[in-house]
Amino acid sequence: MAYLLEVKNLSMFYHISNNEKVRAIDNISFNIEYGETLGVVGESGCGKTSLATSLLCMPSSPGRFEGGSILFEGENIISLKEDYIRKNIRFSKISMVFQGAMNCLIPVDTIGKQMLETLNEHMSMDKIKSKNLIIEYLEYVGLSESVFNMYPHEMSGGMKQRAVIAMALFLKPKLIILDEPTTALDVIVQAQIINLLKKLKKEFNLSFIFITHDLALEYEVSDKIAVMYAGEIIELASRKNIYSNAKHPYTEKLLKATPNINSNSQTLDFIEGSPPDLTLNFTGCRFYERCDKRIDKCENVAPVIKEIENKHFCACHLRG
Ligand SMILES: Nc1ncnc2c1ncn2[C@@H]1O[C@H](COP(=O)(O)OP(=O)(O)OP(=O)(O)O)[C@@H](O)[C@H]1O
Ligand SMILES: [Mg+2]
Repeated sequence: MAYLLEVKNLSMFYHISNNEKVRAIDNISFNIEYGETLGVVGESGCGKTSLATSLLCMPSSPGRFEGGSILFEGENIISLKEDYIRKNIRFSKISMVFQGAMNCLIPVDTIGKQMLETLNEHMSMDKIKSKNLIIEYLEYVGLSESVFNMYPHEMSGGMKQRAVIAMALFLKPKLIILDEPTTALDVIVQAQIINLLKKLKKEFNLSFIFITHDLALEYEVSDKIAVMYAGEIIELASRKNIYSNAKHPYTEKLLKATPNINSNSQTLDFIEGSPPDLTLNFTGCRFYERCDKRIDKCENVAPVIKEIENKHFCACHLRG
């Protein structure tokens, strides 16, 4: 099977001083099929945004790739020159809606002006054609032509998020990474954005990587889900298996901490403690300190992620 994206043993560390590095992405592997949505969940600081920026080959400073490959349509983009990536891959084949992007719109410029600038960075087109193209994209995401002349403060959060999604679509990418795209929105607007993404996925046969803290939301959007913990993927399976057949104690805990409006249970579980410091040299399982199912082996032997059932991957000694 030819995958749209194949990530193999990818590592990216932030070198914060001569002898200290943050292991933000540590030996991660996964793949995405054409038209498939991968959800990425995990606590704050587990490496979700670092994974996203790595896939665009632009880890933030002082991040450096330590090994592994990112095959996009079979081509290892890590080995390509920055200039080539900027012209041919980034935003044109793999696009991204950055975490908090809708709050970074320039307050003194109209949406139209900001979209024109983004468009002109990638395409040379006369003004009228550019404007018409932008209006076409505004319409794709459910915004009217009048938004072109609006300032960000005249728009609701949902409208702003639609506008930044429109910008990510400009160059007809095959994969769009959405980093917490609905976190600041109320549930009704969140639902509208999710429906918009589903519509765009169908219309353009897009693949998405959907990053969020919210497991319940992932169930709505994703075909399969990767659970990250402390720089690693510790479980990866279809959304159905993650929900009803989770194998890693961390995923089980995350599910118990997720509110379910139909449940009679009054109390939500939570995970005591916090994720480990990623500058540490880990020997055993990174979840060891917080795991209520740990066995002796977990302290000093790091579990390796394995396929424990068909397309269900898990990194836990309890699972063989
Ligand atoms: N530019 C940087 N320099 C040094 N360390 C960084 C940098 N960016 C992120 N980190 C560290 O890398 C780790 C992963 O951070 P990242 O932002 O990828 O997590 P996240 O899962 O996206 O978190 P959140 O849910 O809060 O957005 C954290 O320990 C963070 O402090
Ligand atoms: Mg993040």
